[in-house]
Amino acid sequence: MKIGTPEVKKLVDYKELDYKIEQVDLDFELDPEKTKVTSICRVKKNPSLGGEFPAFVLNGEKLELLEVSIDEDILSEESYQVSDETLTLRPTKDEFTLKIITQINPKANTELEGLYLSSGIFCTQNEAEGFRKITYFLDRPDNMATYRCKISANKSDYPVLLANGNKVDQGENGENHWVLWEDPFPKPCYLFALVAGDLGMVEDTYETVSGRKVRLEIFVDKGNEHKCTHAMESLKNSMKWDEQTYGLEYDLDIYMIVAVDSFNMGAMENKGLNIFNSAYVLADQKTATDQNFLGVESVIGHEYFHNWTGNRITCRDWFQLTLKEGLTVFRDQEFSADLNTRTVKRIEDVAGLRGHQFIEDAGPSSHPIKPAEYIEINNFYTSTIYEKGAEVIRMMHTMLGANGFRKGMDKYFELFDGQAVTTEDFVHALSVANNDYDFEQFKRWYGQKGTPSLTIKHSYNAADSELKILVEQKCPKTLKVDAWMPYHLPLKLGLIGKENKGDLVCDLKTTNELERKDWAEKGFVHIKEKNQEFIFSNVKEDVVLSINRDFSAPVIIEAGQSVEDLTFLLAYDRNSFNRYETAQNLAIDVLLKLISADEKGEDLIVPVTYLSAF
Ligand code: BES
Ligand code: ZN
Repeated sequence: MKIGTPEVKKLVDYKELDYKIEQVDLDFELDPEKTKVTSICRVKKNPSLGGEFPAFVLNGEKLELLEVSIDEDILSEESYQVSDETLTLRPTKDEFTLKIITQINPKANTELEGLYLSSGIFCTQNEAEGFRKITYFLDRPDNMATYRCKISANKSDYPVLLANGNKVDQGENGENHWVLWEDPFPKPCYLFALVAGDLGMVEDTYETVSGRKVRLEIFVDKGNEHKCTHAMESLKNSMKWDEQTYGLEYDLDIYMIVAVDSFNMGAMENKGLNIFNSAYVLADQKTATDQNFLGVESVIGHEYFHNWTGNRITCRDWFQLTLKEGLTVFRDQEFSADLNTRTVKRIEDVAGLRGHQFIEDAGPSSHPIKPAEYIEINNFYTSTIYEKGAEVIRMMHTMLGANGFRKGMDKYFELFDGQAVTTEDFVHALSVANNDYDFEQFKRWYGQKGTPSLTIKHSYNAADSELKILVEQKCPKTLKVDAWMPYHLPLKLGLIGKENKGDLVCDLKTTNELERKDWAEKGFVHIKEKNQEFIFSNVKEDVVLSINRDFSAPVIIEAGQSVEDLTFLLAYDRNSFNRYETAQNLAIDVLLKLISADEKGEDLIVPVTYLSAF
């Protein structure tokens, strides 16, 4: 715990690095209480600094510094400064090699950040800022470097030695053995991982769409190997799905997953070496429920999908967390929807959003999906960043359509592969790939907090065959109206004829060609104003509205539909998500009426209008 006034980090204070670490050689001599870490970094000064040589400040916490050298000259203690959180150097060259030797105590590490020892297994957790507890480094995601990592340890206690990338060499040295790993893809240090222990392993292979063979290895406590079948199947399904849906192939020769009991999150997407809480890997028919099996599939998918959305393209800074998490949650939701029952998945995800995120957003912890400031980044892995972030991506997917969204994703990788970027960069890629699609107003979803509501009223004019729909967009209850601006959002609607009992085909009256097309082809209208009126022509009869189909926007709907309308929708709405919603709303209505009758001492009677619906 830090004592004193907490430092507030601000998005507006972002500054490019003065020095970049481009290549790292790490050497770990593993020992429970005295692990020696040698880091050799290739450092380059930012050319824009010209002849200036600012201080080079590295992050580091709870480290015992043994030695620092630059270009093989050991630095004297007067030539650098060490504080509880930093190591400050005064370089004099544009390019140099920095060698740092530290000692750490993994056994005493109970924060489970950095390198720790748990149940006899060495394990790392470096997101968000754990790497600074391993060695002095530029512990921020915009420092992308290639890594080589040598691990040495006792052969019989730690027969398995793992790090990111491909295994390039190994050897023995008396009671010890060592392995050298190389990861050719530049990554931020939060994606570095190391695991060492006496673990069982299950292996398989996957042939990528271009014909490359990838080894798949899942490491678990010995005796649990038989519980990995579903995780392995889920991994292969994830690899296939990303190829088919986004044309994204796996990039290394090996993909490893380690399951450990002590991992305090669900799972972590370290490059080529995911670390999971065993609850999200182990499952068998005897002990796991259907929900457990689905949970394993979605978490395996989520961490796998990070390989492209998070790892190959990462975040410039932690204010951009939703760039990787919102997008990857959207991708894992779609993966599960494609492999199982789409509507059931959407119902569950929306229930989760309303049950957690809406509550968070209506209370004291409400924050935008891209916060402008934070004190402790670990407290920002929230339902808002994740689930609302995924809804924001989903709205863009709805607006562009599956093909347009795919073109946007292709553009995102074309422009930014290998880089640390911002949410603006992501939206820019989607826009330029779709005829400069206008997302300017839409971007308010990133910076404003709270759940907006839509009040919806409609009136039918039989004489003109016109239907008027009035939509009022309301500021979240917790915000001041003048500090809030209305959102741009896609509202999927169904106009169901009262006689016809099916969706009426009719035209949206507007001079905006895109909006007419989106209504005709994608079934949504663009909500942009605080008060907006839509006129539909060629509407042959009066309708009942099916509103926010598939939950196309993460908003609260206030439409005051009558019991007659709801029973009608329950019978005739062809949108299965909305049919489920209607059933829920009707059931709640019945229960509330029964409760109020009971309180008045009246007979408990379910009105026949409800029964006709069920
Ligand atoms: N990158 C996160 C893991 C993480 C979470 C690191 C919090 C540091 C702090 C990972 O991709 C993730 O989001 N894991 C989720 C599960 C996922 C299926 C949503 C988790 O651990 O809960
Ligand atoms: Zn994630």
